[in-house]
Amino acid sequence: MALREIRLEGDEILRKKSKTVEVIDDKIKELIRDMDETMHSANGVGISAVQVGILKRIIVIDVNYDGSPSLKLINPEIIKKKGSEEFQEGCLSFPNKFAKVIRPSEVVVKALNEEGKSITVKGKGLLAEALCHEIDHLNGILFIDIMEQGTLEYIDNDQNDSSKK
Ligand code: NI
Repeated sequence: MALREIRLEGDEILRKKSKTVEVIDDKIKELIRDMDETMHSANGVGISAVQVGILKRIIVIDVNYDGSPSLKLINPEIIKKKGSEEFQEGCLSFPNKFAKVIRPSEVVVKALNEEGKSITVKGKGLLAEALCHEIDHLNGILFIDIMEQGTLEYIDNDQNDSSKK
């Protein structure tokens, strides 16, 4: 396992669309392990492959931090959305920047797991937000694109670590 460099605001790769994963080989599995380690090391709750410079449709999410395994999703797709909720959102690619974003309060996501099996994940609240945020990354969409006007804040402390994605 290894930590990978997190691509930051202004890096053009963050605007590119990621490609569908066709084969889940050892290289993809290693990437997923590295993404998980990189995310935890940066105290993030979610990360997408593009944020470590790889344009593949892969996301890793851990909203619990209770030692249970992170959610690792390949080719994720939102198949259902319900409600709406306002979140204070951050992103590992935008250190110390936060803004208010309105997202669905519940989503259902279809994806492949690391074994290539089709799975369905239901998320509410923070998990729904993280799923939407990471899937947006795969399409080159950043939270600053959809934030509520005038809510961008620069917060230079660690209190908001748990909302970084
Ligand atoms: Ni992000």
